[in-house]
Amino acid sequence: MAILLLLLLSLALSAPAAAGDGLAPAVAARPGCPTRCGAVDVPFPFGVGEQCALAKAHTRYPFKLDCLSVAGVSKPFYKGIEVTNISLSDGKAWMKMNMSKNCYNQSTGAMEGNRAHVDFTGTPFWISNVDNKIVVIGCQTFAYLQINNVLTGCVSTCNKDSIPVNVKCSGAGCCQVDFPNGTWYYSTYFSESYNTSQIWRSSPCSYITVIETTAFNFYTTYLNSTVFYDTYKGLAPVSLDWIITMDSCDEAKNTTSYACVSDRSTCVNDPKGGYRCSCSHGFQGNPYMKNGCTAL
Ligand SMILES: *[C@@H]1O[C@H](CO)[C@@H](O)[C@H](O)[C@H]1NC(C)=O
Ligand SMILES: *[C@@H]1O[C@H](CO)[C@@H](O)[C@H](O)[C@H]1NC(C)=O
Ligand SMILES: *[C@@H]1O[C@H](CO)[C@@H](O)[C@H](O)[C@H]1NC(C)=O
Ligand SMILES: *[C@@H]1O[C@H](CO)[C@@H](O)[C@H](O)[C@H]1NC(C)=O
Ligand SMILES: *[C@@H]1O[C@H](CO)[C@@H](O)[C@H](O)[C@H]1NC(C)=O
Ligand SMILES: *[C@@H]1O[C@H](CO)[C@@H](O)[C@H](O)[C@H]1NC(C)=O
Ligand SMILES: *[C@@H]1O[C@H](CO)[C@@H](O)[C@H](O)[C@H]1NC(C)=O
Repeated sequence: MAILLLLLLSLALSAPAAAGDGLAPAVAARPGCPTRCGAVDVPFPFGVGEQCALAKAHTRYPFKLDCLSVAGVSKPFYKGIEVTNISLSDGKAWMKMNMSKNCYNQSTGAMEGNRAHVDFTGTPFWISNVDNKIVVIGCQTFAYLQINNVLTGCVSTCNKDSIPVNVKCSGAGCCQVDFPNGTWYYSTYFSESYNTSQIWRSSPCSYITVIETTAFNFYTTYLNSTVFYDTYKGLAPVSLDWIITMDSCDEAKNTTSYACVSDRSTCVNDPKGGYRCSCSHGFQGNPYMKNGCTAL
């Protein structure tokens, strides 16, 4: 009985999605390469290990993921950052990025915390300006991202004219601003002239993070407890757009490394720069593999 169940299970796991069944298209990896790492599908051009990933000029193995065991669970990582999902059809990936906090330490009388430095320069990943927000939480807080010489952030306060309300992030206990368009990197900062040294009994900590808009709601308990940081374990889900190279489709089509190799694939320009591939209308699958796109 157990053997039969196992057999059925492995059949269910290995069966490719049949054409036209409305399921997600089958994940295609290079022959001999794993198609997933733990619970996450790893479709080509991504791959577990160098041989399984698309190599790109100028960068070594930019699509290479490492499949690591964390507390007994296999998870894919990109340069040390956990990847939770990869979508071929819309050219997106989701990763977990460090949140930053700044807390008053009663015994030292100083503000303590951590900052985040995220850098995807030279990788296939753009940090999505459409899917993510910059969120700042705190009662006496001015926090911002620095990108080149541009600071992007906001001020969050709590007082009788600025009373925090659940699910409302507009300056009272929480503020948010758009993530800048076309950015590969950022560092987080807390302004020193705004701090919680006078209000630490009720609200000792401030936070700033980039986070996927749909994954975040503000709750007033975030101001007087560690629930916010703990809920996400200090790692915020962030949505990224990935591209094959920074070439436009017209440029890429002229190169021997043009990645849209399925004969039913088309090239898509990312508005921020670079190209990726898509199966033509009426087809689905993996446009980065020969014969990877099949009829719907
Ligand atoms: C988060 O920050 C810690 C401490 O600075 C660092 O060791 C780690 O690599 C960072 N993780 C990510 C995913 O950036
Ligand atoms: C991964 O992303 C795709 C595309 O947005 C979505 O349909 C799918 O449900 C996601 N998978 C997981 C495990 O979140
Ligand atoms: C406050 O600082 C002390 C002394 O450096 C340290 O032992 C303690 O862990 C800090 N408290 C917190 C909450 O970080
Ligand atoms: C908090 O900010 C005030 C100015 O608003 C500054 O004088 C003070 O030194 C800061 N305290 C800490 C612990 O950073
Ligand atoms: C935090 O504040 C909320 C109201 O904003 C209150 O209901 C809750 O009891 C407070 N929690 C703590 C630990 O003080
Ligand atoms: C692509 O190659 C063709 C023929 O060699 C050339 O005419 C065209 O200008 C090239 N396009 C780009 C964008 O390099
Ligand atoms: C981002 O910038 C690109 C090019 O500069 C532009 O085409 C695109 O519309 C912008 N997207 C948004 C959402 O502002």
